[in-house]
Amino acid sequence: SAVRNYNFTVVMKNTTKLCSTKSIVTINGKFPGPTLYAREDDNVIVRVTNHVQYNVTIHWHGVRQLLTGWSDGPSYITQCPIQPGQDFVYNFTLTGQRGTLLWHAHISWLRATVNGAIVILPKRGVPYPFPKPDKEKVIVLGEWWKADVEAVVNQAIQTGLPPNISDAHTINGHTGPVTNCSSQGFTLHVESGKTYLLRIINAAVNDELFFKIAGHNLTIVEVDASYTKPFETDTVFMGPGQTTTALLTADQRIGKYLIAISPFMDTVVAVDNVTGIAFLRYKGTVAFSPTTLTNTPPMNATAVTNTFLDRLRSLNSKNYPAKVPLTVDHSLLFAIGVGINPCATCVNGSKSVAAINNVSFVMPTTGLLQAHYYNISGVFTDDFPPKPPTPFNYTSSTQPSNLQTTNGTRLYRLAYNSTVQIVLQGTTIIAPENHPTHLHGFNFFAVAKGLGNFDPNKDPEKFNLVDPVERNTIGVPTGGWTAIRFRADNPGVWFLHCHLEVHTTWGLKMAFVVDNGKGPNESLPPPPSDLPKC
Ligand code: C2O
Repeated sequence: SAVRNYNFTVVMKNTTKLCSTKSIVTINGKFPGPTLYAREDDNVIVRVTNHVQYNVTIHWHGVRQLLTGWSDGPSYITQCPIQPGQDFVYNFTLTGQRGTLLWHAHISWLRATVNGAIVILPKRGVPYPFPKPDKEKVIVLGEWWKADVEAVVNQAIQTGLPPNISDAHTINGHTGPVTNCSSQGFTLHVESGKTYLLRIINAAVNDELFFKIAGHNLTIVEVDASYTKPFETDTVFMGPGQTTTALLTADQRIGKYLIAISPFMDTVVAVDNVTGIAFLRYKGTVAFSPTTLTNTPPMNATAVTNTFLDRLRSLNSKNYPAKVPLTVDHSLLFAIGVGINPCATCVNGSKSVAAINNVSFVMPTTGLLQAHYYNISGVFTDDFPPKPPTPFNYTSSTQPSNLQTTNGTRLYRLAYNSTVQIVLQGTTIIAPENHPTHLHGFNFFAVAKGLGNFDPNKDPEKFNLVDPVERNTIGVPTGGWTAIRFRADNPGVWFLHCHLEVHTTWGLKMAFVVDNGKGPNESLPPPPSDLPKC
């Protein structure tokens, strides 16, 4: 294995999209940021130097960070922010991981413009478990606001109102052709007869997305850096933070084909419904040739998402076995929902909040991992409720009379190497909604999902403990539930949150503590000396 060194300099960059120019926070002046290339088991060292007036941290989304929790990156969870003028070196090893992941800023909403791909190739000499592609291409999907994104989120926090939706979707940083503003959109150049490995990343802030290429099917081979049983589909569906790697065979001769992305939202909540477009273009196609069009599914196409998700299975081969925990030490039920709390200074005297088991997570002002490691009291409590305080009918159409949540920086303690099952139960408090939920520090197996209330007596019979898909981010279906399992084999403090940034802002987050304090492998090594201070 090798050492891969990267320098990430955080700088402002004037950027023009949708015919207007604004200054955005970037890494090395790029949007999306630089792709990080490595092989399985390589050591990655990234020096992040902050030259902007914002505090910054970077999260390596889906990197397991085995025994390197200090390099995970979520602000105030595993580290204090890198302040203007400071730098910090992230240092981690890609132990037993290969595939496509993403990195992004993990503070406020900076990840809107501070994001990029992580490509982890197999170890030298180890083939892919699928036909070798001729070429590989990274495709990063995102969202664009004409306004300053930090202003958008700050206004939402101050007013208590939902934030403004984005103005466009981006594909590799391009919004698609905009009349009269000389924006051409992104073009994926291909040659007839060749196969391409597309590493597709949903780096959007608040949107789950459909992805489709006119006239071409894709063969899915990996999601969230875990190999899957290959299957062919014309539509890809991804929540923010999720990645999908697919083979594309350029089986047409010449021509231009539309690539389209559009949001999925099966409730009435406002969302940026602008279709983002790019082009697939065959070598030899003349400039004026027409484009073959395609339609992504309608915004509320729940059935399309289910068809896609139900086909995702772990490869579960001899070389890549699915190690699903068959027994459960910690069985947790997390009811996820949005609520309304009083707020004297807000526009309507109230503000939107979101909670797990009725706890709206309050961000600490000191890193939780430091507080845990140095036993600093008063930063968090470890009494996060393992189930909702009062059981209720999570998915009925009647709202509970009290929509208020409690506040707290409450964590849940997991014994090192214990097995954990979490049933993520969606609720209809205020509005039912799909919540793409991300767990730091672990991959988990998504053993089942269903509609309505989870039934602890009947539903476990449906669990797939053989080849469930392994991921780091999973959608909790609107008005339904998802069950995940993992082994808590990584000491540290690990964030769990909805990857719709608006819900994270409202408090839909919590964290686990894993540490037996028994030394090597069971507890975390000391922090690096350059770890930022709060
Ligand atoms: Cu991709 Cu905690 O985030």
